Amino acid sequence: MLEDEFGREVSGVRVSLTDRCNFDCVYCHNEGLGDTRGPQDPQDDEMTADDVVRFLEVVDEFGVGKVKFTGGEPMLRQDLEEIVRRTPDSMEVSLTTNGTFLPGRAEGLVDAGLERVNVSQDAVDPDAFAEITNSGAYERVVDGVDAALDAGLAPVKLNMVVFEATAGYIPELVDRVAERDGLQLQLIEYMPEIAGNPEWAIDIERVHDWLAEQADRVEHRDMHDRKRYFVDGGMVEIVDPVGNAEFCANCHRVRVTHDGKLKGCLNRGDDHRSMGDMTKPEIRETFRETVANRVPYYGEYLVQDDDGEWVVNDAYLPAPAQD
Ligand code: 5AD
Repeated sequence: MLEDEFGREVSGVRVSLTDRCNFDCVYCHNEGLGDTRGPQDPQDDEMTADDVVRFLEVVDEFGVGKVKFTGGEPMLRQDLEEIVRRTPDSMEVSLTTNGTFLPGRAEGLVDAGLERVNVSQDAVDPDAFAEITNSGAYERVVDGVDAALDAGLAPVKLNMVVFEATAGYIPELVDRVAERDGLQLQLIEYMPEIAGNPEWAIDIERVHDWLAEQADRVEHRDMHDRKRYFVDGGMVEIVDPVGNAEFCANCHRVRVTHDGKLKGCLNRGDDHRSMGDMTKPEIRETFRETVANRVPYYGEYLVQDDDGEWVVNDAYLPAPAQD
């Protein structure tokens, strides 16, 4: 496995297959690219299935054992099944989706080799759901979760972004995963870095404290980026990256944008390396460079000033223009 200068091995890649989405969630960072909703039909800038497979074959050589397909909404790609089928066998394949297209396609994806799925579910009330996602598709998401379970994809992880509009639904979602075998809940701290609206954030420590009270057992493994709570037989994870140097120190993934750019960090827009029409040896080299240049966002790229504010480390500021 390739390792960066901070001792972080790259064990997984997260590949955006499109930046198109049939939802327009108010909080969405779109994998670090910002703005989401746009045309729904295939776009020219998207990597082809061949591009994606070529890249995966290269990282497979470096011992990268996991790939997560994401978007936008990756199920808007009609060739998703083909991409999953052509992913190197040694890689574990998972998908992050809004769930609306899982009915009718979950089984085919499992046949193609899909092993895990995360479905975004930010509320349990259809009206609140519609407001958060700018879509009225709550029932389809619930059907999508059922379709994933029926296709044998357990454990299905429900992703909830925790911010002021969703926090009130946490207890109901915790109950739901406790009641239903095969479901897990992932509570993701709202990340305002790219999405904006920092005032929407709520103190994630309050959620930790509340879950600690409910839980029969808490797990926090060293070298792991999230804390797990076991509540009445259900598993709830908290992902809390904001201002968290420990989280970044345990980040082991490289990202690829829908248009084929390698990206060492979700929050950075200044470290992209385009793979364009590269050959495999060129991709190999570009991947090595991306890994070599990866730095933890909190704790290295950003450091705390005397007032505790996170500011860009001088070492990463662009060099002043030369006269
Ligand atoms: N903060 C936290 N998580 C986010 N996601 C998207 N935007 C944000 C944000 N601003 C997560 C959602 C979605 C996944 C693809 O990314 O959980 O399920």
